[in-house]
Amino acid sequence: MRIALLTSGGDAPGMNAAIRAVVRTALYYEIEVYAVYDGYRGLVKNEFRKMDKKSVSEILSKGGTILGTSRMESFLLKEVRQTAINNLKERKIDCLIVIGGEGTFKGANDLNEMGFPTIGIPASIDNDIEGTDYSIGFHTALNTVVEDIDKLKDTSSSHQRASVVETMGRYRGDLALYAGLSTGAEFIITPEHPLNKDFIIESLKSHKKAGRRNAIIVITEKILNVYDFANEIAEKSGFACRATVLGYVQRGGSPVPQDRILAGRMGAYAVECAKEGKKGIAIGVRHEDIVDYPFAEAFQERNFKKTKELFDLVPKIS
Ligand code: F6P
Repeated sequence: MRIALLTSGGDAPGMNAAIRAVVRTALYYEIEVYAVYDGYRGLVKNEFRKMDKKSVSEILSKGGTILGTSRMESFLLKEVRQTAINNLKERKIDCLIVIGGEGTFKGANDLNEMGFPTIGIPASIDNDIEGTDYSIGFHTALNTVVEDIDKLKDTSSSHQRASVVETMGRYRGDLALYAGLSTGAEFIITPEHPLNKDFIIESLKSHKKAGRRNAIIVITEKILNVYDFANEIAEKSGFACRATVLGYVQRGGSPVPQDRILAGRMGAYAVECAKEGKKGIAIGVRHEDIVDYPFAEAFQERNFKKTKELFDLVPKIS
């Protein structure tokens, strides 16, 4: 049997741990494994390399992805995907394992619907894939955001300032929500939890009167211009305010043990599935169990039960 492997979309800490687990598990079962470079682009450009045990040495603790990644708009075109399938077939590959987020899974689902077997391992700091409690990389990024907000609290408290902190997350608020709860943020704004500017400004007026020395407002990217928002807060509430955009540092760094172990479990399980001839599936973790489920479930509307429960906590414990 032969499998191919690629990483695609935004990189996430723990992708290398997943690559290592896929390669080593495949070799354990005497399955040939080929790495594809720079995501779907490498698949179309026919950039494959046969992997051995040593090709994945010393990468477990490394951030980023040794295979490189890309975002490829043209992969939405059927004829482009057909070239990718031809390249895979020419090399007699039986199954393609992809490691990435929502966009990566859509590409894999499309290939599967065109008749080429694919399996997806979720890796994204956004935690934006349905059907799995967590994607690889989320906990490391969360750790980075929490460390940064703790630092911001030191300086904003010294200066008696409020701080607006913008996290990544694209259209998902998990990074902002979990980081806000972990740092005792006064306000958390995410795509799932609409902004109430007036409420925030009025609350900050009371915080100021009560002599509070700082306030943290965590917000997911793409909702508003955080620099304008910080100025508006300062003007209307009288609480001095600064904005910080955390940016791409959130995607880097050595994966935390939780992500390394998750990547190891998911990578090995993906190979077991490929060996059994399963296809068109995503790998996930649910209540600590590793599971597989059809790609379609990964694109479903989110079940907001847990998100709501976490948001309800904010006024109680902040
Ligand atoms: O999907 C991961 C992510 O880091 C998002 O949080 C962010 O919106 C996006 O990627 C940034 O993408 P790019 O690297 O293409 O600028």
